[in-house]
Amino acid sequence: MLKAIKPSPEYLTSYFDACVESWDETNHKYIIHNPHDFDKWSKTIFVDYENSEIGRDLPEGFVSSVTYWVVDGSDYIGTINIRPVLNDFLRTCGGHLGIFIKKEQRGKGLSSIVGKMAMDLARELVVDDYVLLTCLESNPIAIRSVLSNYADIIHETKITNCTIEGKKQQVRNFMIQKTNHI
Ligand SMILES: CC(C)(COP(=O)(O)OP(=O)(O)OC[C@H]1O[C@@H](n2cnc3c(N)ncnc32)[C@H](O)[C@@H]1OP(=O)(O)O)[C@@H](O)C(=O)NCCC(=O)NCCS
Repeated sequence: MLKAIKPSPEYLTSYFDACVESWDETNHKYIIHNPHDFDKWSKTIFVDYENSEIGRDLPEGFVSSVTYWVVDGSDYIGTINIRPVLNDFLRTCGGHLGIFIKKEQRGKGLSSIVGKMAMDLARELVVDDYVLLTCLESNPIAIRSVLSNYADIIHETKITNCTIEGKKQQVRNFMIQKTNHI
């Protein structure tokens, strides 16, 4: 059974395997780690997650973010990343939520289960009374999974001038009512 947990060392090997198989197939690199740098990040990953959550030693312009790993038994399946308080950039070009499912588990309908877990966590953590989901226009599967899974979209906007991970991108923002359930 899938559950969302705080990142834990017992899943590190499974997480690393997911980074290897998914690195070239993932738009938003921030949500996973570059497998080629494993020697470096494996030593600090859990402290880094903790620091991000409490806002300690954040890079300039970053807000705090809370990360959960979605696991099934001893297998890492995916990541949920939540930014409780948005800055101006995230309010137009990033949103509150990041969801990642490892490549081997994609296309099996898991985005609805992981999306529900993410919304349940976001309802508790996000300070706004809505949850903002942002998808790249170049990521039709992400857009489709939002349109299929979140019935309570209260607003949809297209933004054309976001610079994300160094590239000009068009994004679609979905504002989801926090009080309703998916
Ligand atoms: C986007 C992502 C979370 C979707 O998860 P998933 O478990 O593969 O998606 P699902 O299997 O639940 O499918 C969701 C929808 O996309 C469709 N879909 C899935 N894979 C597809 C494919 N290869 N081609 C076309 N449509 C596809 C499904 O049919 C479904 O649509 P439907 O409900 O209308 O039938 C996953 O691909 C991922 O982690 N991608 C990398 C990170 C990322 O882009 N995150 C999103 C940031 S907003």
